[in-house]
Amino acid sequence: MIKNIVVIGAGTMGNGIAHTFAQSGFSVNLVDVSQDALDRGLKTITTNLDRIIAKGNLTEEQKAETLGNIKTFTELKDAVTHADLIVEAATENQDLKLKIFGQMDEFAPENCILATNTSSISITKIAAATKRADKVIGMHFMNPVPIMKLVEIIKGYSTSKETFDAIYTMSKTLGKVPVEVNDYPGFVANRILMPMINESIETLYNGVAGVEEIDTVMKLGMAHPMGPLQLADFIGLDVCLAILNVMYDGFKNPKYAPNPLLVNMVMAGKLGVKSGEGFYDYSESKKAEKVAKMFAK
Ligand SMILES: NC(=O)c1ccc[n+]([C@@H]2O[C@H](COP(=O)([O-])OP(=O)(O)OC[C@H]3O[C@@H](n4cnc5c(N)ncnc54)[C@H](O)[C@@H]3O)[C@@H](O)[C@H]2O)c1
Repeated sequence: MIKNIVVIGAGTMGNGIAHTFAQSGFSVNLVDVSQDALDRGLKTITTNLDRIIAKGNLTEEQKAETLGNIKTFTELKDAVTHADLIVEAATENQDLKLKIFGQMDEFAPENCILATNTSSISITKIAAATKRADKVIGMHFMNPVPIMKLVEIIKGYSTSKETFDAIYTMSKTLGKVPVEVNDYPGFVANRILMPMINESIETLYNGVAGVEEIDTVMKLGMAHPMGPLQLADFIGLDVCLAILNVMYDGFKNPKYAPNPLLVNMVMAGKLGVKSGEGFYDYSESKKAEKVAKMFAK
């Protein structure tokens, strides 16, 4: 029976994952490297709960209960002693994740399931950093976690059926829609999304059309809620590049080679929304206008 949850990382995904478990009544220990990062995570959770209240979908009492279900920790070792499930959502860096999984394996109870929210790193490789590969699994939530229904459940080479069934059922308890996926580079979501983003960059690079024109074709022609270049800006161009590189290395297939314009933009520090500029300008003066435009019907 899964009751006690630990979430590693209080960033974009980690705070959303902690929020989602806590709102479903689970006790959550949230871990990050500094109290500052944890405070920022809690602040985001509070703001997001207020948004749900404003929409009439949550009461002040439920907000207090949700926040009451979350405890914060700066030491992984202290947080995992009674964990039934740990969901790792730290920075997307293979060496860091291997180190964290080694620590989780050392300090968490024997039966605890170790899940990762990685967007692209092999679950099988992460599992090999532990002595319980059968209990390691991918739990790929989508951003923003409290709103997006999908969870890709990724089975590593050694993930047991018991572990898979427990996580599949748990995802449904959270009100999510789990989808079973095998462990190959990019899983399903990014294997299909990233080539589309890369191709939209190639289309721009070849001078076929401009940024707004490409996005308008995909929004109005394919009924996508936002164009692929805007989406790339939201995901982060560095993240898109890293995922494409994992697929390129993993399949040894040139169709996944990142477009040189993407590589150049990342080298120039144009990472999208987070750096203030990507395919669009998000500088303070333009930000409000652009964000309003993006979400305009
Ligand atoms: N952002 C997305 O849209 C998205 C979507 C799906 C999956 N993911 C995956 O989720 C994971 C987290 O991504 P994010 O966007 O939330 O990143 P982020 O940079 O917003 O947050 C990462 C957090 O991890 C913390 N951290 C770093 N080292 C740590 C350690 N040793 N112990 C505890 N915490 C540590 C950082 O301080 C930071 O708060 C990555 O694996 C990413 O690939 C991201």
